[in-house]
Amino acid sequence: EIQAVIFDLDGVITDTAKYHYEAWKQLAEELGIHFDLEFNEQLKGIDRMASLEKILSALPDGGAAFTLEQKQEWAERKNNNYKRLIQTVDKSEILPGILDLFHDLEYAGIPIGLASASRNAGTLLRQLKVESYIHVIADPENVAHGKPAPDIFLKAAEELGVDPHYCVGIEDAEAGVQAIKSAGMFAVGVGDAEILSKADYIVPETSKLSLSDIKQHMAGR
Ligand code: G6P
Ligand code: MG
Repeated sequence: EIQAVIFDLDGVITDTAKYHYEAWKQLAEELGIHFDLEFNEQLKGIDRMASLEKILSALPDGGAAFTLEQKQEWAERKNNNYKRLIQTVDKSEILPGILDLFHDLEYAGIPIGLASASRNAGTLLRQLKVESYIHVIADPENVAHGKPAPDIFLKAAEELGVDPHYCVGIEDAEAGVQAIKSAGMFAVGVGDAEILSKADYIVPETSKLSLSDIKQHMAGR
């Protein structure tokens, strides 16, 4: 029944969500904006500029005084913070259970797609040495709307040549789960059941992901 499984990257394949958090926190502090884990939750899955806008909206004027050039400079500064933090990422940072799932999917002949909003996804996949498992990487540059819009998941399905209804999407972010659901796919959430309550099936951590469990839950939908 499953035609493809489409993965998010940050927080699903690897724990880079913590580096995005750290990189934004460094920037927010420079701007004098309070930034914590709860705020960060809203940024998961959200692209760079949209994330910056959310951070600036915490300012009294909502960031209205800043020019686009200044915003682009800050977004770049965050990205430089992030690139510094991920420099040493290697395959030891693949989250538990992910390689087993990749192998099970490969064995079952189910193709794998990537639907990440990150412009750093290609670099990370190379550093993690998992490129060979992934058949299609949907390019966030080529989609009109970021998560929670379904675009990037639909793009991955289209490039894989599969029907979204028979696709599984795996996400750690609320916006990501919404994107999967809007794409008409079966949504697997990894993390907090309250935050990810819109998912069709939730596991607390990646080590609990299994193809047979996903199949079973999908059959009962
Ligand atoms: C993922 C992460 C977000 C990040 C976005 C863009 O969706 O969950 O935290 O903002 O990618 O990443 P980038 O590497 O392009 O700044
Ligand atoms: Mg994520």
